[in-house]
Amino acid sequence: MSHNTIEENKRRLPLDHLESVWLFGYGSLIYKADFPYLQRRPARIHGWQRRFWQGSHDHRGTPEKPGRVATLIAAANETCVGMAYEVTPDVFAHLDHREKNGYLRFFTTFEWLDHQEDQQVEGLVYVAGPDNEAFLGPASEADIAEHIARSEGPSGPNPEYLLKLAEALRELEADDPHVFSIEQELKKILQR
Ligand code: SIN
Repeated sequence: MSHNTIEENKRRLPLDHLESVWLFGYGSLIYKADFPYLQRRPARIHGWQRRFWQGSHDHRGTPEKPGRVATLIAAANETCVGMAYEVTPDVFAHLDHREKNGYLRFFTTFEWLDHQEDQQVEGLVYVAGPDNEAFLGPASEADIAEHIARSEGPSGPNPEYLLKLAEALRELEADDPHVFSIEQELKKILQR
């Protein structure tokens, strides 16, 4: 079984004293905002890269056959583009449940991609680190695509996660060779 992070997130970072909190989304949180938010803005964070190295037991796979979803891996010279949401603290009850399969929240600094590019803000990001039990780690992009192609979970087919994310990243004009290369491999597999 994987480690459920709901209680750990609540204990490590209580948020109830805050009026609102910014959250940086880099995976499904970019294209699936199933929570109320005050505003949403394209943003980027430095020192992290998006990788399909996290297993999904509860959304795009099952405990027996985990799917593959995005997490962030520390990488000094890299930048990760995503979508930031300003939310009230009560929304984290839903978010912590959604991200419970190994993701811990951390405060980090975002930069806006839109007109106020030089303005920075502190906010939260969910990261599933290498020490969580659902972590799968590196594989070639072709192997990741094969894995995604055969996976499915309660939130739907794993290919949908990857394809929607790639589409959303194109809309954000984000350069992400890892995601786009998995997308290319996956499309070849799906056409077989
Ligand atoms: C995120 O989108 O920021 C976290 C990973 C996910 O839920 O896909």
